[in-house]
Amino acid sequence: MKNILVTGGAGFIGSNFVRFVLKNTEYKVTNFDKLTYAGNLENLIEIESNPNYKFVKGDICDSAAVEKTMVQNDIDTIVNFAAESHVDRSILGSKDFIITNVLGTQTLLDVFKKLGGERFLQVSTDEVYGSLPEDMPELKFTEETPVTTNSPYSASKAGADLLCNAYYHTHGLPVLITRCSNNYGPYQFPEKLIPLMIVKAMNDEHLPVYGDGKNIRDWLYVDDHCSAILAVLERGNPGEVYNIGGNNEWFNIDIVKLILEKLGRSQELITYVKDRPGHDRRYAIDSAKITRELGWEPAYRFPEGIEHTIKWYQENEDWWRKVMSGEYEKYYKENYSSKETHH
Ligand code: NAD
Ligand code: DAU
Repeated sequence: MKNILVTGGAGFIGSNFVRFVLKNTEYKVTNFDKLTYAGNLENLIEIESNPNYKFVKGDICDSAAVEKTMVQNDIDTIVNFAAESHVDRSILGSKDFIITNVLGTQTLLDVFKKLGGERFLQVSTDEVYGSLPEDMPELKFTEETPVTTNSPYSASKAGADLLCNAYYHTHGLPVLITRCSNNYGPYQFPEKLIPLMIVKAMNDEHLPVYGDGKNIRDWLYVDDHCSAILAVLERGNPGEVYNIGGNNEWFNIDIVKLILEKLGRSQELITYVKDRPGHDRRYAIDSAKITRELGWEPAYRFPEGIEHTIKWYQENEDWWRKVMSGEYEKYYKENYSSKETHH
């Protein structure tokens, strides 16, 4: 493994992964990204002139462009981050999710099959396991938990996983799948819970909490997701799934209160709004397999990770103000105006 094609490397986790790989390995990275609303080359300014890095603008659904990029850069490994990633957007309209997440993955698999290669890693999500009951705290998602999808986003990610599995069994491709819990950290687009709440608090605007705020998510610092992906890429068994999680469950409302406290803002900014349709109640990952087999463990504890993340948004106001203009304003109005607010 020498030359990695990172798809979606201009997004939140992808850009952190590109930086992580260039910092910790000798691999060459070609970042192949369509630059949708979520893709931002400013995320990569620090490493754009690194000789081991190259950017190619392209769509993973465009097989000719994928093939050309793979041949020109002698690619032997693909890590597929490229996706439509926001559940609320998939509720407003799911077509782009099926096109990129399902057909895009199928396109990458076919080109990889044609050209050959050492590893294909599909970056999936714990959302493909559906929702856990809140009254059974010991129950967590394992790699054996059946796939049960509740949102168009998770259905599209599960579709991609099933295709990866099929290409492993039918064509013998060396495909690996990772399923991670909720990530947080620098460069996350402020449509997701943690960055949205940080920037709303900094702007002294209402913080929209869905439903009763008691949904549970298992938060992992983004660099820990990156180190886990690298471990699976280098030492995982093809054809297998690896769960990745932080063992760090929080009620949404407690995260929101913590952010307000850390930023010295009033708890009165909290506004309960109409729930997300089909809202999964609880996610929690059992990551025993990756720890046992690959020796991976998270390096960051939540208190330091959230502190660092808040500080990053405070120091990078230009970054988030820019990405929150234009298209974002239209989306924000569409998603939140239909949720009548109550305190
Ligand atoms: P993101 O939305 O921040 O970034 C997605 C990137 O993919 C963007 O750079 C975008 O331009 C690019 N992209 C979209 N469509 C494309 C296409 N057709 N061709 C090429 N590039 C395209 O997403 P993220 O939060 O960084 O998530 C990355 C991956 O990790 C996704 O596959 C997501 O399902 C998965 N994941 C995310 C989380 C999380 O908490 N954010 C957790 C587990 C798994
Ligand atoms: O679990 C992994 C998944 O985590 C990834 O696969 C997805 O790409 C990623 O978006 C994330 O999905 P969630 O739906 O869990 O994340 P989100 O940040 O959108 O929401 C987290 C929780 O916060 C969820 O219970 C909904 C709630 N929420 C979210 C927003 C945007 C609110 O209460 N208010 C909000 O405004």
